[in-house]
Amino acid sequence: MKAVNTIGMGGHDVLPLVEGGKGVSATNGMSSGAWAAAGGIGTVSAVNADSYDEDGNIIPQIYHGRTRDDRHEELVKYGIDGGVEQVKQARELAGPDAVINVNVLWEMGGAQRILEGIFESEAGALVDGVTCGAGMPYKLAEISATHGKYYYPIISSGRAFRALWKRSYSKHPEWLGAVVYEDPWLAGGHNGLSNAEDPKVPQDPYPRVKEVRDVMRAGGISDDVPIIMAGGVWYLREWEDWIGNPELGTIAFQFGSRPLLTKESPIPEIWKERLPLLKEGDILLHPFSPTGFYSSAVKTPFLMEMQHRSERQIAFATVQCDHRTHKLDVGFKGNKTFWVTKDDLIHARGWVAQGYTDAMKTPDDTLVFETEEMAKILRKDQADCMGCLSQCKFSSWAEHNEKHSTGRLADPRSFCIQKTLQDIAHGGDPDDNLMFAGHSAHHFSTDPFYSNGFVPTVKQLVDRILTGD
Ligand SMILES: Cc1cc2nc3c(=O)[nH]c(=O)nc-3n(C[C@H](O)[C@H](O)[C@H](O)COP(=O)(O)O)c2cc1C
Ligand code: SF4
Repeated sequence: MKAVNTIGMGGHDVLPLVEGGKGVSATNGMSSGAWAAAGGIGTVSAVNADSYDEDGNIIPQIYHGRTRDDRHEELVKYGIDGGVEQVKQARELAGPDAVINVNVLWEMGGAQRILEGIFESEAGALVDGVTCGAGMPYKLAEISATHGKYYYPIISSGRAFRALWKRSYSKHPEWLGAVVYEDPWLAGGHNGLSNAEDPKVPQDPYPRVKEVRDVMRAGGISDDVPIIMAGGVWYLREWEDWIGNPELGTIAFQFGSRPLLTKESPIPEIWKERLPLLKEGDILLHPFSPTGFYSSAVKTPFLMEMQHRSERQIAFATVQCDHRTHKLDVGFKGNKTFWVTKDDLIHARGWVAQGYTDAMKTPDDTLVFETEEMAKILRKDQADCMGCLSQCKFSSWAEHNEKHSTGRLADPRSFCIQKTLQDIAHGGDPDDNLMFAGHSAHHFSTDPFYSNGFVPTVKQLVDRILTGD
């Protein structure tokens, strides 16, 4: 294995190893402080981060506002308070010279306010930069430059970076810390697949990263500005020919799944215990996130439930037409008229006989069938919404318009991501939740590093990664 040397990134010399920011509360002050102290870049997740009461207990993010707008304001406050708290902790652990970034998702509700709130707080001086993906964060460069912070856009194609650079980032080239290429078929969490890309047909990351570098070169960006490869990086020896490769320019690597299993990782024990049980094929790239993005998560019963709900789905028309010739006579109360095909009528009656008695309308003129109990939970979750996303498929909430509505029907094929990520992060059973993981997470069960239940410290993990293993 080649020696892995430090590189210049975000104004510092650091190891080319980055802790991928993980919300909700899957990277925090403790994990990122330890990662930065070990010589890489640590990343505090500023996605609804935890804050603590005087006794050091996590303050549960409970919402008191009666309207969604009021609850959204509470959410922004929780977001800023938590981000500030975690950054302070990270800096204390890492020391003054280490590099600490924060991570926000551009499509999270209040993203800009939370980011600026942290930058303008007493913790602002303790942060070096921001990594940001999920959407097209054109304003990221300007916000960062205004506050004297480095920005690290997360993109999944050269095309996306070209658009960001041309319209906005080229005005603030000096604050570009690195470009994170997050592989949309490999990385855990949300994935930036474009409409032209097939979730079932993964592409080789090398030519895609080369394309990002070509776009950067065309924009006049030096090869010294790193590209951070994120997604599917486990053993560095498998990426040896990327290191020092003049075709790619300076390369660093981001780890998201692997640091989940460390002593400092803030995820609860019950979640850590599931990681060494994962097998190849246990991770699903799926379309159910309320963000509208694909995302990669473990096939827990929760996720399978989502898949099965979408399978219990039929199309309807409100007027009888050529092929929708049969009136639906199950799944709803009152005198609504839905015309369906004969086959779908038979399907619907079958699901109702199995207990999926409630038909729920989707925005695509289809009905999904759920149990009465689950239908109630879904409606309550939608009513409890506090606007954690800028646009939510599941509740129809939209941050940036007057009515705070997407104008589309709430979609019961999705779920409240805020509820489930808060639950899994604070001790909820992973089986009942969305358990994000990258497609290489099955290595936990085969990598000898973890034999006999070994859980490394972050420093031990970083040292191990440097050996190539
Ligand atoms: C549990 C989990 C949560 C994540 N949450 C976020 C997030 O909030 N923001 C983000 O930019 N990336 C998020 N990611 C992506 C990671 O930062 C990282 O880029 C990715 O996991 C790298 O791929 P790997 O999983 O193969 O290591 C998450 C990943 C995981 C596994
Ligand atoms: S319903 Fe959607 S926007 Fe509302 S809190 Fe849940 S995930 Fe966030």
